[in-house]
Amino acid sequence: MTDSKPIFVTMPSLAPLEEFTELLKGVWERGILTHNGPLVQRFENELSQKLGLTNFVSVSNGTIALQMAIKALELKGEIITTPFTWIATVSAIKWEGCTPVFCDIDPETLNIDPSKIEALITDKTVAIMPVHVFGNPCDVDAIEAIAIKHNLKVIYDGAHAIGSTYNGKSLLEYGDITATSLHATKLLNTAEGGACITNNTEINEKIKRIRFFGHDDSKDIVEDGFNGKMTEVHAALGIANMKYYDEVLEDRKLKYQKYVSGLTGLQGLQFQKVKHGNSNYSYFPVIFDSEEQLLKVEAELNMNKIFPRRYFYPSVNTYSKILEPQSCPISEDISRRILCLPLYWELTSDDIYSIIKTF
Ligand SMILES: Cc1ncc(COP(=O)(O)O)c(C=O)c1O
Repeated sequence: MTDSKPIFVTMPSLAPLEEFTELLKGVWERGILTHNGPLVQRFENELSQKLGLTNFVSVSNGTIALQMAIKALELKGEIITTPFTWIATVSAIKWEGCTPVFCDIDPETLNIDPSKIEALITDKTVAIMPVHVFGNPCDVDAIEAIAIKHNLKVIYDGAHAIGSTYNGKSLLEYGDITATSLHATKLLNTAEGGACITNNTEINEKIKRIRFFGHDDSKDIVEDGFNGKMTEVHAALGIANMKYYDEVLEDRKLKYQKYVSGLTGLQGLQFQKVKHGNSNYSYFPVIFDSEEQLLKVEAELNMNKIFPRRYFYPSVNTYSKILEPQSCPISEDISRRILCLPLYWELTSDDIYSIIKTF
């Protein structure tokens, strides 16, 4: 193992280079690099069809997609979110002038615990922003019921959720808006990229205007917008990669199952539970009994040039330099004990067995 290539937690799934460059020839010929060009439109249409989405507005990254969602719904006030997430969920809330309020998580699904949301609602609460953590669907029905009861908006951070389903539909179809990511590490990637998905036609049009500096069709400025556009080069990569999307999805599921069968029964290990809908199994998180046990396994894997990732660590509510202190004991505890193991297309069965042997 020591002479072999390092194994990282993930590697981008990429189409053969020729298929990408073939698409780039057209970009060069047309001389259109951005501004909702033909490849961006093609990417949006083909992906919407593939996933059965009503709308899909591509943008430059998933963080901007979250900010655009908040802007489009004109939210000002407190947004209840999860502390068990990537910092982008919270920075998007803050950049839009809203205040994040942290709701602790379900220790099994690792998603926001809906039974704890209502206690956090105040007269300043305007929305709930849950995350489908590692592609595992939140309890969408319970969250929707709370939102309706208290007249709140719901924005899902679906950064990990392409390929997950709920009630037989794409998970991206739920909430007032879902923001997703097409970052290099995601199941489908455009290197950097993201999207806003909504079923509301008016909001969808507004999102498109926000993406383009706030222009309407007559080039008047009608919204407080910014530049959130995806480029033709990124869309070309998305189109090329989309051809392999089904295989990549299936491959991750099979590898996920390999890990589960190899690690099941080992003392002190737990896996994320899927209680609602279907996950895309695009990450392999494993929860240890203690941080000490995690650090021991991580050190051994590192010695063999295997680099899993402490994802999400620390719990976001503990970033005291940028946030007022708020306590979320379950998220803080899980964050210390969770490790994401390598999971990507080129990872071989032998690699998986070597990783399992380390435990
Ligand atoms: C939960 C979550 N939200 C938002 C983002 C931000 O996405 P992006 O990197 O495309 O800006 C990420 C990034 O991985 C994420 O994990």
